[in-house]
Amino acid sequence: MLKKIVIAIDGYSACGKSTTAREVARILGYRYIDSGAMYRAVTLYFLEHHVAVTNPKEVDRALQQIRVSFAVSRKGNSEVFLNGLSVEQEIRQMRVSAAVSQVSTLKPVRLAMVDQQRKMGKHKGIVMDGRDIGTVVFPEAELKLFLTADLLTRAFRRQRELLERDEMVDLDQVIENLMERDRIDSSRTESPLKKASDAHEINTTHVTIDEQVDEVVRLSLSAMVAGRTATS
Ligand code: CDP
Repeated sequence: MLKKIVIAIDGYSACGKSTTAREVARILGYRYIDSGAMYRAVTLYFLEHHVAVTNPKEVDRALQQIRVSFAVSRKGNSEVFLNGLSVEQEIRQMRVSAAVSQVSTLKPVRLAMVDQQRKMGKHKGIVMDGRDIGTVVFPEAELKLFLTADLLTRAFRRQRELLERDEMVDLDQVIENLMERDRIDSSRTESPLKKASDAHEINTTHVTIDEQVDEVVRLSLSAMVAGRTATS
């Protein structure tokens, strides 16, 4: 039997991490966790409860009230739940995208999410995507990937996804949001977005989703076989 591994996928906003991670997990029979959805769920709660991110007491109080979990929907997709309610649609709205990177700079928020993410990966057999998965959450992951793509390609893809969810957003607004989030995510003090030294970099600009998925599955199988050789 091949050894179960942890697959960590990091990278900039909208370069196809989630789509790749979900499909790779389905093919390998692994669990898929979208760590960005967790930060988005916390942000949704903060917006709905008017939590002031500059007030540490309010942030701590809010975190005590927040329970983020995942469950598989009737359609077979993994959905994120906030205090027992599916928020999969709401968290993708631009108002959440506009606030999420600021919320994600907060140390107590990160500590709470990373703790939960590590518990989810305890038994391996998991694909997790985000910004700090290969660097902070699972520095020992057997396979680490760092996805990149041109800004315009990412913006077109994100605008199309929003349209599919009936949200019409101008391209320049999408571009501005991606650039601003990349800037905040890369420059924050707590777990900034950066490529782990042992991560494979994949540029997805001219690659189809199927090609991307094939490449990651191939790398995953090599990592599993390497693990088998190392332990046998
Ligand atoms: O899908 P998209 O690339 O737009 O972003 P996401 O994966 O949903 O993540 C939304 C935001 O959450 C990011 O811009 C980061 O600010 C934050 N995040 C983070 O700080 N750490 C993670 N592991 C994942 C997301």
